[in-house]
Amino acid sequence: MPEKNRPVRTLDIRAMKEAGDKIVALTAYDALFGSLVDESGADIILVGDSVNTVLCGRDTTLSATLDQMIYHGSIVRRGVRRALLTIDMPYLSYQVSIEDAKRNCGRVMKETGAEAVKLEGGRSVAPTVEALVEIGIPVMGHVGFTPQSVHAMGGHRVQGRKAGDRERIVEDAKALERAGAFSVVLELMPSDVAQSVTEAINVPTIGIGSGPHCDGQVLVLHDMLGLNDRFSAKFLKRYANLADSVRSAVKQFEADVRSGRYPDSSHTYE
Ligand code: KIV
Repeated sequence: MPEKNRPVRTLDIRAMKEAGDKIVALTAYDALFGSLVDESGADIILVGDSVNTVLCGRDTTLSATLDQMIYHGSIVRRGVRRALLTIDMPYLSYQVSIEDAKRNCGRVMKETGAEAVKLEGGRSVAPTVEALVEIGIPVMGHVGFTPQSVHAMGGHRVQGRKAGDRERIVEDAKALERAGAFSVVLELMPSDVAQSVTEAINVPTIGIGSGPHCDGQVLVLHDMLGLNDRFSAKFLKRYANLADSVRSAVKQFEADVRSGRYPDSSHTYE
């Protein structure tokens, strides 16, 4: 496990796989939640492009922009001292050309102060990953269900169930490892497929909806807190019901204001 009194580095994340220590990752989109997650001991904090759906009310991540990711990345940075801060690169910021990817990922690193970026895709983005690693940008890969390809994949579907899928996903993860990725997210795949990938590569796998055999787990913070209760999935474990707490608090405030119970003398200056 990385020491508690110094920042987590990509080498620590790689070493955790060798040591058999599970990696804990969560998303954050602002300084407040970033600091709460950081203080609570997560190893990786991901500023996911899920911000576009979870906070901004969009149906997919496709319309997330580079400026949006830089804004959220830079405010999360203010709250995070220890965890490895990783920023999702939005759709079309790295797929068009390697030049584009270098410029856009470089901007994210410079303007947010993050330690790494995450790109979706396997063999098709491996040359880009290699070029980024060559200029000193640590890259986290992401295979299986890749939300930026939601339309091409026919919706939010478990990947890896058809003949040949397991081999394809393993080859994608291996290509990312060869290209220098320091870890790979495995999203929405049967646990035995995730196990095959985890055994086939030496860099850690971080699962979401991919069972217990991954080297670590990531969840979207607002989903696991039950704050975004519009989203549910078999893999999601809710550790709190914050949406209900918010509704109930707002209702109590409403009743207090309408009845004149708030503010009372204890909340009033003399
Ligand atoms: O955008 C995101 O939050 C993600 C995680 C779910 C892995 O990519």
